[in-house]
Amino acid sequence: MTDPARAQAGLVEALRTVGCGPAVLQAFADVPRHLFLPGHPIAVAYADDAVPTRIVDGVATSSASQPSMMAIMLEQLAVRPGHRVLEIGAGTGYNAALLARLGAHVTSIDIDAELVRTAAAHLAAAGVTGVDLRVGDGALGVPDAAPFDRIVLTVGSWDLRPEWVAQLAPGGRLLLPLTVRGSQLSVAFDLGADGVLRSDSVRGCAFIRLQGLGAGPDAVEELRPGWSAQVAEGASPDLAVLADWLDAPGPVTPIDGPLERADVWDGLGLWLMVTVPGAVRLLTSRTAEPPGSWFVPTGHGTATVVLPGPDGCAALVADPPGIRAFGPGGAAAAARLAGCVQGWRNAGRPHAADLRILAVPAGADLPAVGAVVEKEFSRLVVAPRVRA
Ligand SMILES: C[S@@+](CC[C@H](N)C(=O)[O-])C[C@H]1O[C@@H](n2cnc3c(N)ncnc32)[C@H](O)[C@@H]1O
Repeated sequence: MTDPARAQAGLVEALRTVGCGPAVLQAFADVPRHLFLPGHPIAVAYADDAVPTRIVDGVATSSASQPSMMAIMLEQLAVRPGHRVLEIGAGTGYNAALLARLGAHVTSIDIDAELVRTAAAHLAAAGVTGVDLRVGDGALGVPDAAPFDRIVLTVGSWDLRPEWVAQLAPGGRLLLPLTVRGSQLSVAFDLGADGVLRSDSVRGCAFIRLQGLGAGPDAVEELRPGWSAQVAEGASPDLAVLADWLDAPGPVTPIDGPLERADVWDGLGLWLMVTVPGAVRLLTSRTAEPPGSWFVPTGHGTATVVLPGPDGCAALVADPPGIRAFGPGGAAAAARLAGCVQGWRNAGRPHAADLRILAVPAGADLPAVGAVVEKEFSRLVVAPRVRA
């Protein structure tokens, strides 16, 4: 499709299915995405996909985010006309334009000066005025423009920086893709008068990670060439031993229903990563796929969640759907993993959207019960939301 107006209308129509409200839909209808992606075909600009826009050493350091994820986050952010909004990760300037269209006074910062220069050109081409663009490390926020009613990161963070909390207006909302036990979650936190950040909504997401001061530790460790592991904060499993066990598959304990890609990232897989100490999410590339691993196909390779024991491990497998024991003591790990799967069912099969996260500064008392996640600057407690 080469007609931008028709392609844009098609994208807006598609965004209705992600539960977008009328104001956010109108913003997508009013701001032409292709003006923020010059040089890309119209069909690419209006597909519901992220478009890499900056590649350094083969790795994307910037992209125009996937429109449906942007729409979900704009709903999470709950921007109202007149709000002062800080966006960290200006990128192409497209999200800043949508925020401006929603009536916000927008300050948008990016660590990459060249991207800020092109974002300014894109905003001008789209006729969007009034966005205060800055070059700098968003880990520090933008103190001279604070306080903000809303702070949104469009780039993944490992921690909650105290600068962001300090620059929020009373009752303000901080929305960010946050690493929680190896999973990235888009969390909208409201700042309470008691200084506690309480999540209003949580969604699964996958963003490029912060560079600079907020980069945080590596989220992914290599197990062997083509195999990577997402390990929870504070855990240090022996990945070489794990790889050896995975070469020795044992029997499968069946579980109900198929296991699909989404189950490894959200729902069951997320639950296991959050609630089970020592759980590891494992990804293999297509070429490095271990023969007969039976992990869950992702389109790019396979994935699973592994629970290591003292002398073996157990992993979710798709064919047949179940829990496969690996290594000499794999049966005990498989029995433990089966109990954890039952725990997820007993809790009502929660997904990301069913989680509630509280955050306080590192070392402060936690006003709730759940899985505790310790970061450098913050302490989180994660638990299933109590259903009304
Ligand atoms: C997914 S892109 C943002 C997309 C953008 N919001 C848009 O609408 O096109 C993430 C951006 O975060 C920027 N970034 C990474 N680390 C940063 C930091 N410490 N401070 C500010 N920006 C940063 C990257 O340069 C990149 O442009």
